[in-house]
Amino acid sequence: MSLTWMLLVLQTGLWAQRYQPSTGINARVEALLAKMTLEEKIGQLTLYTTDWGSTGPTIREGYKNDIRSGACGNLFNSHSTVFVRDLQKVAVEETRLKIPLLFGFDVIHGYKTIFPIPLGEAASWDMEAIEKSARVAATEASAAGLNWTFAPMVDISRDPRWGRVMEGGGEDPFLGSRIAEARVKGIQGKKIGDNNAMLACVKHFAGYGAAMGGRDYNTVDMSEKYFREFYLPPYQAAVNAGAATVMTSFNDYDGVPASGNKFLLDSILRKEWGFEGFVVTDYTTINEMVLHGVVANDQEAGELALKAGVDMDMQGGIYQGYLKKSLKEGKVTQAQIDEGARRVLRLKFELGLFEDPYKFCNAEREKNTLLAPAHRAAAREVARKSVVLLKNENSALPLRKTQKIALIGPLADNKTELIGNWNGAGNFNDCVSLKEGLQGANMQYAKGCELEGTDKSGFAEALRIAAQSEIVVVAVGEKAMISGEATSRTHINLPGVQEELVLELCKTGKPVVVVLMNGRPIVIPAIADKATAILETWWLGTETGNAIADVLWGDYNPAGKLPMSFPRSEGQIPVFYNEKSTGRPFDPNSKWTSKYIDEPNSPQWPFGYGLSYTTFTYTNLNATPETATTRGIPAGKQIRIRVNVQVTNTGKVAGEEVVQLYIRDVVASTTRPVKALKGFQKVMLNPGETKNIAFNLTADDLSFYRRDNTFGMEPGAFDVMVGGNSSDVKTVRIDIER
Ligand code: GLC
Repeated sequence: MSLTWMLLVLQTGLWAQRYQPSTGINARVEALLAKMTLEEKIGQLTLYTTDWGSTGPTIREGYKNDIRSGACGNLFNSHSTVFVRDLQKVAVEETRLKIPLLFGFDVIHGYKTIFPIPLGEAASWDMEAIEKSARVAATEASAAGLNWTFAPMVDISRDPRWGRVMEGGGEDPFLGSRIAEARVKGIQGKKIGDNNAMLACVKHFAGYGAAMGGRDYNTVDMSEKYFREFYLPPYQAAVNAGAATVMTSFNDYDGVPASGNKFLLDSILRKEWGFEGFVVTDYTTINEMVLHGVVANDQEAGELALKAGVDMDMQGGIYQGYLKKSLKEGKVTQAQIDEGARRVLRLKFELGLFEDPYKFCNAEREKNTLLAPAHRAAAREVARKSVVLLKNENSALPLRKTQKIALIGPLADNKTELIGNWNGAGNFNDCVSLKEGLQGANMQYAKGCELEGTDKSGFAEALRIAAQSEIVVVAVGEKAMISGEATSRTHINLPGVQEELVLELCKTGKPVVVVLMNGRPIVIPAIADKATAILETWWLGTETGNAIADVLWGDYNPAGKLPMSFPRSEGQIPVFYNEKSTGRPFDPNSKWTSKYIDEPNSPQWPFGYGLSYTTFTYTNLNATPETATTRGIPAGKQIRIRVNVQVTNTGKVAGEEVVQLYIRDVVASTTRPVKALKGFQKVMLNPGETKNIAFNLTADDLSFYRRDNTFGMEPGAFDVMVGGNSSDVKTVRIDIER
């Protein structure tokens, strides 16, 4: 690593956070490694699911025998202190070297207390809240026997047909990177080795969210420049924040499946980013390289993976089945196997499992930790922050306690869907439904219709109570399990007859408040047009009803902002804010420009968009370039731009605004996005209050992969833009001299 880069990294503190083996660990690892047989080493490179549950086609049975023989050193989908203690006992009492097991699980947005889905939390733009959510999740999961979670998922995606957008941080690499950092810090806590800390696993490396056609597991192929600018940053941010493990993705990149891709796993992850943890595959991705067509058989797949830099084989049984043979045939080396085992053992020592293999198996702690009142309170707080107010005509919201309300919809009195997909050990019976959250209101309830299907027989009752009300609140959305893995949809509308129900309710002339519960951006142009008010609430988890009620009553003024653009139609996809100009940027007065003839280019609601019960204005934007005198930073990096803007609450209630800072490099050696998020600040303002918001842009913020593939900035004109969403911004132009 060059001195310059080292200086930068030290200065920005990145180095301090990245995972590095603690002193003394390496000596202990080497001493153990020296005693291990080849089979025992390969066992440390093997991860199997137990029969508790699986997140894919379970291949292996009889996992206890694999533990006894040392053939399996790691398990997932096994949790609760009783179940984990039983299995850990086999490893530490019935094996030759008593090496403890890792226990992994998908704790994606909560373990027992379920928080909003990650795309919902991303809408909070509140890094403290996101870190808190991950911290509670790790506190609960580590009290239930677990020491490793397959999170954070940080895959950037611009395609809501891809159901896994629900697990990520949306479409933007800057926001996605800040979220990745917050999640890793929350998961790993103060230090790996603490009783409430878990190993994070940043996934899915890399570029999984760019699957062609939004079809899960599909091909990913783009220029390296584009990949590095728009898709890689969140993974790097997670590694720099200290992520201890990385998971490879199902997709290929540049023609090579991620689990066999040395450019990704070695050149970028190890050599450029200095990652020192271990790499685990996603579920059977080594096996799948045969189907990708880059190897002829399972043995070759294992050899390609090991040589590319995969340390652990999730559920594939390939390393266990073939590495011994490959070594004998000289296709892999002992050193490659040893390095993988070394990386895994290091983290088992870091966790303190050799001192106390049952440290995560305290039944008393488990009982007192799961669903603790403080955790439910945190879930309610994070859930409220995740709600996005998309429309509020005539200030229909907040509701008034005296109003006669008609509560309608398949999700109004529902619990089963509220914990969303990837819901850990969550139990929907612990949830608060919207109807329960609104209890005490002057309201009538009717379901109206089901989440799916064509039955409209419930419409009449819904319309009847609507006619008797002053305002209608209708809760509609997706079934939780149609957003998530293997759930790509070509029509991302409201399933069934839900949209018809909403539109019939709009015809009554009563104000209609639509509460959306969904895992992805959905296409609802007619509802966007006809509804009086619209709340995007995603899947908010255990405290759903209370959080939405807090917003509906105005006890909490919504401040969420969309982390992903909402298309007007599937035909627009991919639609995203940080697009490039093209040589024929859209011009309404010219035929020959980049547009559709049957739809505007603009999304239904843009990235960064969200309303409040108050209003904000932006004034006095200025940007002043300064030459920094920071010593040691190479010429060309000694640039700083001070940006100031005044934000005023021009309404009648206090509210938070997410002030967003974008830039555009007006002329550069490669085409640049018309906007790129480079900063944001969430600020609370009382009615009439004005605050000055200041940002500092550095040379790195202005840098990109230039025509010669080097990363850096180029002098010239820059537009600096600030606003409450990516579409409505104030702009100043500055000039950075050579
Ligand atoms: C799944 C998912 C991955 C998850 C793993 C283990 O296929 O792709 O995100 O962590 O299997 O459950």
